[in-house]
Amino acid sequence: MHSAFETSATATAVPITFATKSTWKTVSATLPAAARQFAEANAFAAKPGQYLPLPGADGTLAHVLFGLEDESKEWRDLFRPGQLPGLLPAGVYQFANAPHDARLAALAFALGSYRFNRYRNNDAPGARLVPPDGIDAHDISRMAQAAALARDLINTPSNDMGPVELARVAQELAERYSATYRCVVGEDLLKQNFPLIHAVGMASSRAPRLIDITWGNTSDPKITLVGKGVCFDTGGLDLKPSSGMLIMKKDMGGAANVLALAQMIMDAKLKVRLRVLIPAVENSVAGNAFRPLDIFRSRKGLNVEIGNTDAEGRLVLADALALADEEKPDLLIDLGTLTGAARVALGPEVPPFYTNDETLAADVARYAREENDPLWRLPLWMPYDAWLDSKVANINNAPSGGFAGSITCALFLKRFVESAKSWLHVDIYGWTPSAKPARPEGGECQAARAIYKLLSERYG
Ligand code: BES
Ligand code: MN
Ligand code: ZN
Repeated sequence: MHSAFETSATATAVPITFATKSTWKTVSATLPAAARQFAEANAFAAKPGQYLPLPGADGTLAHVLFGLEDESKEWRDLFRPGQLPGLLPAGVYQFANAPHDARLAALAFALGSYRFNRYRNNDAPGARLVPPDGIDAHDISRMAQAAALARDLINTPSNDMGPVELARVAQELAERYSATYRCVVGEDLLKQNFPLIHAVGMASSRAPRLIDITWGNTSDPKITLVGKGVCFDTGGLDLKPSSGMLIMKKDMGGAANVLALAQMIMDAKLKVRLRVLIPAVENSVAGNAFRPLDIFRSRKGLNVEIGNTDAEGRLVLADALALADEEKPDLLIDLGTLTGAARVALGPEVPPFYTNDETLAADVARYAREENDPLWRLPLWMPYDAWLDSKVANINNAPSGGFAGSITCALFLKRFVESAKSWLHVDIYGWTPSAKPARPEGGECQAARAIYKLLSERYG
């Protein structure tokens, strides 16, 4: 169970009462007179995020009041209770009345308890919640633990999270769930025909590699996850300016989220044959770096002209997707921090997703909404496919013009997927630029929870 949850029956828990500006009058009438008086004296009005600890007769913490958005508001932050772990003193708590959504509130509580503590002690919250009745606390706990894994991996700086370290994390995960682990490293990438993964990663002293995990029963539906594992993206010879390079330790966010998703799938023992492919590389600058206008014959046999060495994510994914596609999976999913254009279009909180499977698109949108893991569909707009044409090769990795950058990236990847029965691509951001309830600043788990719920509905 996640450390934010208290499951021993003996614990006495401090009640947390939720209210909104319009319910506060009714709610306060249910409180003891002294508590009501104290709230009034403190001008408590149940504004969203407003917090008030109430003392008991002996001066100990007896009760907590917390404000939520009004029911009538056009939009309510269902993760608002995720602020509580940052406010409450250490101890055990329980919900005294129902927040807007008790399941998401409990999840928010666990997600909001996260701190990145690897390099300094960030006052890990000591508040624990007795899971509210009627929710699946194990499932919530599983999701919060997976989110913490994704966040930890992204937050860890590149000097401690290179291709070697990322592969070690994947191997440990595989061993924990008795999955099969394989890894193709360095020059072997050329021998085993992964030219693009090799081209992007070869300039780094930390050798590129392709992580390959398989798990589950071979007779179950084949689900393959592919995650962009660029452990640092300098841009390569098309070097990023310092402002653009600053948070590029997060460029393995796709890999982090694919590992988080795999952890949930294996932990829940979904009836799938799972495969996880992660091209883990560092996009560096050196004398042997790949260059603009270089041409590489990809695994799939397409000759790819390099228009920009900073469009490296689609290159490493192309070879991994081609491999995944060879065994005709029932569902092929890739996640990656692929374009700045996705963030320009939708901002850091709403990753765009792409698929031509209408049923899948509807399901992804539904679970994104239900799990408060927002995702928004953008089109695989075929008229733009011609923008990928190269005059000297089969395809260019960076169309000039710069329009619709997230769409053209998706169309590039699409060229490498042919036989999969269904394909989903998500252009994630993987980072929360400034803290919000349940979402501390830094690495973020995106798309993994929504996809996990979709898969557990289909294969649970
Ligand atoms: N990792 C970046 C994408 C990125 C940049 C994500 C900033 C989040 C924030 C990716 O490798 C990249 O550099 N993409 C280029 C593509 C372009 C050269 C076609 C981009 O988006 O500018
Ligand atoms: Mn790049
Ligand atoms: Zn990148």
